[in-house]
Amino acid sequence: MQKVALVTGAARGIGLATAQLFLEQGWRVAMLDRDVPALDSACAGLEGARAFYCDVSEPAEVETAVAEVLAHFGRIDALVNNAGVADFGPIAETDFKRWRNVMAVNLDGVFLMSQACLDALKETQGAIVNIASISGLRASTLRVAYGTSKAAVIQLTKQQAAELGEDGIRCNCVCPGPVRTKLAMAVHSQEIIDAYHDAIPLNRYGSEREIAEVIVFLCSDKASYVTGQVVAADGGFESTGVGLPALRR
Ligand SMILES: NC(=O)c1ccc[n+]([C@@H]2O[C@H](COP(=O)([O-])OP(=O)(O)OC[C@H]3O[C@@H](n4cnc5c(N)ncnc54)[C@H](O)[C@@H]3O)[C@@H](O)[C@H]2O)c1
Repeated sequence: MQKVALVTGAARGIGLATAQLFLEQGWRVAMLDRDVPALDSACAGLEGARAFYCDVSEPAEVETAVAEVLAHFGRIDALVNNAGVADFGPIAETDFKRWRNVMAVNLDGVFLMSQACLDALKETQGAIVNIASISGLRASTLRVAYGTSKAAVIQLTKQQAAELGEDGIRCNCVCPGPVRTKLAMAVHSQEIIDAYHDAIPLNRYGSEREIAEVIVFLCSDKASYVTGQVVAADGGFESTGVGLPALRR
């Protein structure tokens, strides 16, 4: 039986690269996104994939979309909660609407999608991979909403792992470092890009594919004894501690 992955935010960026890698490895993929034209063009020509339109922060839409996925594919073996938004700003300028919008997609969306897929994942003894961020591991300016939402996703993953292990469901979290996607390029100036290159031990951004490789591994049977883990795919950024450029050789 071919396995089925449900990937949210699959119309572009890390989600699209993840969907493509699953397909290469013989999975079928439910590609879910709220951007209908982008999802249609991403999904076109991808054999084994099907598009599902849904805003992950809307409970009723989530219920309907997961029911549609199950009606079409009959099973869900892996859920990748990748859909996310970035809105960076100082605390004083982050009004409640901006805060709620980030929380609704980045945190509520992960909770809702995971809950809606629970019975299906129990049946397959499946896996959840939540996409957080290095911004959930290390605090920084301008990320009061984004960083807090991603730190919450890390804790949510551990809650899920602790509770759902008994059902045979593995739950892990991937924290990407910077990747040149539309989301990142909207908030990264050239100055920020240069500073990241300087601060990251591998001295570069990651690629969508490099993040997808970690996600697909964690969904696969190769990771059958791995649950509750937080894996930073970040070129070493999280591990650097006092990473002062002045201390470099
Ligand atoms: N790119 C980076 O540098 C980076 C770093 C760390 C973490 N991340 C995380 O990786 C994930 C993917 O990011 P990306 O860089 O590929 O972004 P992206 O903007 O290229 O893609 C995100 C996709 O999610 C979809 N989406 C957004 N809100 C949605 C909603 N409410 N319902 C359904 N779909 C929705 C968008 O339409 C888009 O197709 C996000 O969770 C992001 O926070 C990205």
